[in-house]
Amino acid sequence: MLKDSYGRYINNLRISVTDRCNFRCSYCMPEEGMVWMNKSELLTYEEIARITGIFAGLGITKIRLTGGEPLMRKDLHILVHMLAEVAGIKDLAMTTNGFFLNERAELLAKAGLKRINVSLDSLEALKFKEITRRDYLNRVLNGLETITSYGIRPVKINMVVMRDINDDEVTEFAILARTKPYVIRFIEFMPIGNNDGWRNEKVVPSKDIRERIERDLNLKLIPVEYHGTQPSDRYVFDDGHGEIGFISSVSEPFCEHCNRVRITSDGKLRTCLFSHHETDLKQLVRSGVDNDGIRKVIIDAVWKKEEGHLINRPEFVRPARTMSQIGG
Ligand code: 5AD
Ligand code: SF4
Repeated sequence: MLKDSYGRYINNLRISVTDRCNFRCSYCMPEEGMVWMNKSELLTYEEIARITGIFAGLGITKIRLTGGEPLMRKDLHILVHMLAEVAGIKDLAMTTNGFFLNERAELLAKAGLKRINVSLDSLEALKFKEITRRDYLNRVLNGLETITSYGIRPVKINMVVMRDINDDEVTEFAILARTKPYVIRFIEFMPIGNNDGWRNEKVVPSKDIRERIERDLNLKLIPVEYHGTQPSDRYVFDDGHGEIGFISSVSEPFCEHCNRVRITSDGKLRTCLFSHHETDLKQLVRSGVDNDGIRKVIIDAVWKKEEGHLINRPEFVRPARTMSQIGG
């Protein structure tokens, strides 16, 4: 098993397949001027499958494909199929903005995708457009329906909650968790990339969201006992309808239980979302290093995984890459 120097076991690998996106979420990237990587800089599907095989041999069982927007990559279902075949991979998930799901849900489901997270920060068309700078709310809602119809479960919705921007909608989202087969996850706004809009005051602590939902719906939220290493605290409503979760990276960091590492679309291993250091796996793969050699580099890099992020400390420095370049 992959282990770091703080005793954490790593079984979860997030793979970014592209830095490109057809949205421009204000918290993720600027409206204009993004410079994309060249195709030749991206790992090929074969390279991703090979690296995944090496990680699987080291005890990785969970894979999540991210971007940018992963479905910007052509024929992503082919990669899904290749990864579903890798021995040891039990869980294969994807995080997407939902735009392409209508057309591609069927291929993805058939290729072996098990779970999906769709980013959705507002249920109001105007607000959605303000946040994503695109007028695609209906497409995303339809995409959610389509992927649900192919039996992918759970379908999770990621909502980044920002004070005075969309925090007035948290109860509407909670209602969605009760009326649709969706699990809603409220994510605290994090300082990453060049999202100039981040300030501590914009973060809405998960506790406040929980209390607000309980008050508005006149229901209690019961924590779900979970002895894994999920970053999200899960809750169900006391009347038995609906599940929601909270990712409180800022107010209650889960670094102590972190079980994940990431690979950027250009093949760099990052041991923390907030890392300032990367390990170039692509260069090893392309210079003919064998699996044993790559395995050693991975074991070494993971051992040095950071203790945690320093968001709440004065010495905190944001990573230079945007979320879309790291892979959320
Ligand atoms: N803070 C919190 N979440 C973010 N995401 C992107 N940028 C940020 C940020 N600054 C989320 C996206 C997506 C997931 C991959 O990360 O909404 O759901
Ligand atoms: Fe695209 Fe996701 Fe970034 Fe929004 S958050 S711009 S959907 S990569």
